[in-house]
Amino acid sequence: MQKKQWTLIAALVMVGLSACGKNDGANTGIGASALVAADSGGKMLDFVTTQDSTPLPIKPEQFDTPAAKEFMTTGKNPYIGNAEAIDRGKKLFQLYSCTQCHGGNAEGQTGPGLHGPDYKYAKDATNKGMFETIWHGTNGGMGAKGAGLMDPTDPTNGLSPDETLKVIAWIRTHGKTTGNE
Ligand code: HEC
Repeated sequence: MQKKQWTLIAALVMVGLSACGKNDGANTGIGASALVAADSGGKMLDFVTTQDSTPLPIKPEQFDTPAAKEFMTTGKNPYIGNAEAIDRGKKLFQLYSCTQCHGGNAEGQTGPGLHGPDYKYAKDATNKGMFETIWHGTNGGMGAKGAGLMDPTDPTNGLSPDETLKVIAWIRTHGKTTGNE
């Protein structure tokens, strides 16, 4: 899905450059990459669901803060170790009832503990993997928490990518891994 969009953008850029009559090889290459970079700040990683590794329902526009944009292209969570973000993440963990299933300190309750380093879904040891699990849930009792997925009747209900990264930054304060390794 995402690949198609990029192909389209690249095709449009090519058409634009050809129309200007500046279609010599070197110019086209530089012009295309500069335009694409300016448009979105880089290429989105292939995010996949934890259920069956199909593409995650998420759009590049949803990564709408500097930290979220960085994560979108690198998979690194810039909020790791950021006290303010961690504090907000802790509040969101309560607000979205994560505490009810995972415990007040993510130590585990009816749901599993989230401290790691061993996870049921091994990819949750990375921040990209944990992001995917929180965003789209699992088949084993963990509901999707991503914006628009939590409640189909309300697209604004649910965590934004930026908020999800803050929640993860807080979860990581309890563990031995930062998830960015
Ligand atoms: C209704 C209970 C419930 C709520 C609320 C809930 N979870 Fe879960 N969560 C679970 C269960 C049950 C699992 C185990 C899923 C499985 O085995 O497939 C799980 C699994 C996970 C995992 C994967 C753990 C692993 O070992 O791979 C993460 C990460 C996670 N939850 C984070 C969160 C966060 C963050 C929130 C709040 C935004 C949240 N959960 C809210 C019940 C819940």
